[in-house]
Amino acid sequence: MVKEQTFIAIKPESVQRQLIGELITRFERRGLKLVAAKLIAPTEELIGKHYPNDDAWLIPTGTNALKGHEAWGNKIDLTPRELATQIREGLIEYYSGRPMLAMIWEGAHAVELGRKTVGTTNPLTADLGSIRGDYSQESYSVADKLGRSMQTLVHASGSVEEAKCEIELWFKKEEILDYDLVISQIMHGTDWGKVKR
Ligand code: CDP
Ligand code: MG
Repeated sequence: MVKEQTFIAIKPESVQRQLIGELITRFERRGLKLVAAKLIAPTEELIGKHYPNDDAWLIPTGTNALKGHEAWGNKIDLTPRELATQIREGLIEYYSGRPMLAMIWEGAHAVELGRKTVGTTNPLTADLGSIRGDYSQESYSVADKLGRSMQTLVHASGSVEEAKCEIELWFKKEEILDYDLVISQIMHGTDWGKVKR
């Protein structure tokens, strides 16, 4: 079995809405294994590294955000880099000093399943059944009108490389536990559950 890990964070708005238990259940029900968790009020420096000030993060984030705005008829006269820089500043302001639950979940396809469980970035158009599709009234326009970053309830790593960087940034090696879940026999084993004859 491929052991993949993903970084998932329950964001401050979800902590305040007391959704932690419900949201953790979504990942448990998938059979993913929790291997690290901590409640943390991050510093500006940590959030600044999580959403890094480099083109590899700024350009795709800005391009996606522009596409999202255009799809809703919002005209934005900024380059992707300029828009992403604004988004990044909003994120640093929003996250720093507010409790959030940082976690690492492990399993086959953990990164892809993490994204699927969380849903697409704009909660208004995220699929029903995903966290963002089920628990929110948020959209690009709501966030714009309120002049704050979009509240997307849960962060999930966007790729295996992103997951590696985020895990290294948020957790020390000794905080990550290597153990077996009993249910892994059912999820990934073959010798279980037959009626005895
Ligand atoms: O969280 P996700 O990976 O789906 O989206 P992202 O493109 O990596 O953006 C990171 C976060 O920036 C989002 O979850 C939103 O909180 C915020 N964002 C925003 O406030 N406004 C946008 N137009 C795009 C993203
Ligand atoms: Mg992302």
